[in-house]
Amino acid sequence: MKKTILALVLCGVFAHGEGSFARECIPCHRQKNISLQKVFMDALLVYGGEENMKAGLAYYFRNPRLGSSVMDEDFLQKNGIKEPIKLSPKIMDEALEAYWQIYTVRGKLQ
Ligand code: HEC
Repeated sequence: MKKTILALVLCGVFAHGEGSFARECIPCHRQKNISLQKVFMDALLVYGGEENMKAGLAYYFRNPRLGSSVMDEDFLQKNGIKEPIKLSPKIMDEALEAYWQIYTVRGKLQ
């Protein structure tokens, strides 16, 4: 049931031309088996709100640092931090907007 709702939400978001998230974020997270929903919730707790989170993540993705990651210590000790993501500001904004929309909407439906 949750999967169906997510699929519907995803279709809605992508229909509005926000495929950047699907293209730029989902494949690597799927390959590394890091839940985009879990890291969304972790990041939301740390960043606190929409503007702060979008700006903070955009900065982190370009300049990943151990000290500014929201991942827990166990994870970071085992896996380290990610490579910087090189996306144009426009694509990064689109991806983060879609990321925000998808997981806040999903949260409201649960
Ligand atoms: C090349 C692989 C890759 C891509 C592309 C990627 N991620 Fe990640 N992501 C990771 C890995 C690995 C981690 C855990 C290590 C870390 O946080 O540095 C991570 C961590 C995160 C985190 C937690 C950040 C933190 O503070 O540690 C968030 C949120 C996230 N990803 C969302 C996204 C979004 C949104 C996109 C698309 C713009 C994206 N990721 C693209 C591999 C990737």
